[in-house]
Amino acid sequence: MASPDRMTPDPEIPTVATYERTVRASAERVWENVLDWEHLPWLHADAFQTIQCEGAGRWGWRARVSLARPPHPEIAIELLVDREASRYVTRTTEGAGAGTEIWTEVTPQGDAETGIRVAFLVPGIAPEHRDGVGQGYVSLYTTLWDEDEDMMRERQRALDDGALARPPSGRDPVALGPVEALRLPHEVIAHGRRYRVVRAGEGLHAHPTACPHLGGPLAQTDLRDGAVTCPWHGYTFDLETGRERGGRPCRMIDRPAVVVEAGEARLEFDT
Ligand code: FES
Ligand SMILES: [Fe+2]
Repeated sequence: MASPDRMTPDPEIPTVATYERTVRASAERVWENVLDWEHLPWLHADAFQTIQCEGAGRWGWRARVSLARPPHPEIAIELLVDREASRYVTRTTEGAGAGTEIWTEVTPQGDAETGIRVAFLVPGIAPEHRDGVGQGYVSLYTTLWDEDEDMMRERQRALDDGALARPPSGRDPVALGPVEALRLPHEVIAHGRRYRVVRAGEGLHAHPTACPHLGGPLAQTDLRDGAVTCPWHGYTFDLETGRERGGRPCRMIDRPAVVVEAGEARLEFDT
């Protein structure tokens, strides 16, 4: 029996399919995404329902995951990175499909593209069913990589635009016009950053449209109970305090005040 930390494919497990594509994101974004276990039940909500991390680091991560399809079976998976060989393996260690190994090779292609090659090794499948199982994996991984690619591209844009950098101090107020004419939610670019003005409770609030965690899209999110929840990892930011309501160490710092005076609204910074 091979060691569980073995970093080569198990020759005894048949490969039921392979999947290759180019993703329009740098290898840096791809590796970041590979180590990011937290996005599974949010970005990939059609595939995963919950995740409980049992350990994570530069080496990879281990977690218990429940699948989105009823009856939501729970499985344990580990993802181990071999940076030298530019590949990683995702293994199912417990539950349905235990013993499955998914090997992914990551090949940088310039600054903004990365080649991906995935091999699906699934034990215990009769030869006549391997193609069907393989097609299922390819279809699932096509969707997962599509979703990941969108996320990585948006994050790259947020980084390139400086939306995740510490906001400068000493910014002048920015006029929003007559408060009566504001159609909420209202998006505005102020000092090169994009904000959304919303009503929560009695007051008006402004929040950045790029999530302070990794740049997720907050512009289209529903406002619930005075907070916005990011669709990438589910962080929920209280608009009054900027705190993450789940207690995660991430805060929305860049929240200009919306001040209304004599019927005119404006954003004020550093208040
Ligand atoms: S980017 Fe992670 S919660 Fe928003
Ligand atoms: Fe993903």
